[in-house]
Amino acid sequence: MAERPERNLALELARVTEAAALAASRWMGRGDKNAGDHAAVEAMRLILSSIEMDGVVVIGEGEKDDAPMLYNGERIGDGRPPAVDVAVDPLEGTNLLAKGHPNAIAVVALAERGALWSPGPGFYMEKIVVGPEACGSIDITAPPAENFRNMAKAMGRKVESLTLVTLDRPRNEYIISDARSLGMRIRLISDGDVSGALVAALPETSVDVLMGIGGTPEGVITACALKCLGGEIQGRLAPQKDEERKRLAEAGLDTSRVLTTDDMAKGENIFFSATGVTDGELLHGVRYTVMGAMTESLVMRARSGTVRRIQATHRLDKLRDISQIDY
Ligand code: FBP
Repeated sequence: MAERPERNLALELARVTEAAALAASRWMGRGDKNAGDHAAVEAMRLILSSIEMDGVVVIGEGEKDDAPMLYNGERIGDGRPPAVDVAVDPLEGTNLLAKGHPNAIAVVALAERGALWSPGPGFYMEKIVVGPEACGSIDITAPPAENFRNMAKAMGRKVESLTLVTLDRPRNEYIISDARSLGMRIRLISDGDVSGALVAALPETSVDVLMGIGGTPEGVITACALKCLGGEIQGRLAPQKDEERKRLAEAGLDTSRVLTTDDMAKGENIFFSATGVTDGELLHGVRYTVMGAMTESLVMRARSGTVRRIQATHRLDKLRDISQIDY
């Protein structure tokens, strides 16, 4: 039987990421990654706190940066149901923004309470992300070359026609060298593996797969996005230092466990929004016009599978009168 239409929290999240992107965008190219991040966090927190929900930040500004706001465990929202887990990355790609490079985005995701995996003290994880055409063909326990060959087969493509996106880090060298030996194209990115993952998962983009070791919060946020978009992520904790290894062992987290999309983001009540801060293949960044500013957001809900691109114009002259955010 058909159901009554439900509230789509993702549409409310669009305002959250728009505010963060607009606030951060003022810091583009100004060489101060912390100021850009801080502006995004404050704006995101203010709008999130106005949403009718009883939220707990599960993936926050987190332990890595010792953040005072939107930290893991913080309650957010107006306290009324629904009870939700909140995953935030107010400015994904702080260095990208500071240098005016492409692909900085503001991101938030919501899921039912208890649905999001918490990486605890784990900062880094291996990830493989593919779009719907390659679902079922990846295995993070197998060598990269084997994965690339299996993906190509599933997609009905030649392996040398695939393009890999990966963070340009020495720790990802083994992946880069496998891709090169197969004749694949590679996009090495300095930062921003959430937008890299989303571009890999979306059809008709210039990349087909993201592989490499990146941040754990970014992995969980990517899993939320993939629940809405289709596609698949596999992850596995990959501590980079002894201290991280030790803390994971103390927390009882198994570094050999293979995490699937569903392990990281359970169920179908998942909502996602990302707004471009600087221009990229995924999203246009913030643009200023005579009227104010324009934003582009990707707004999605897992249960319905609806993917929206929302372009908004913002009258900064009006917002300055009514908002506490410094636009
Ligand atoms: P920030 O936005 O916190 O600067 O993180 C950007 C990022 O590049 C992520 O996209 C990625 O997952 C992680 O950092 C990689 O970490 P590291 O820079 O330590 O290799």
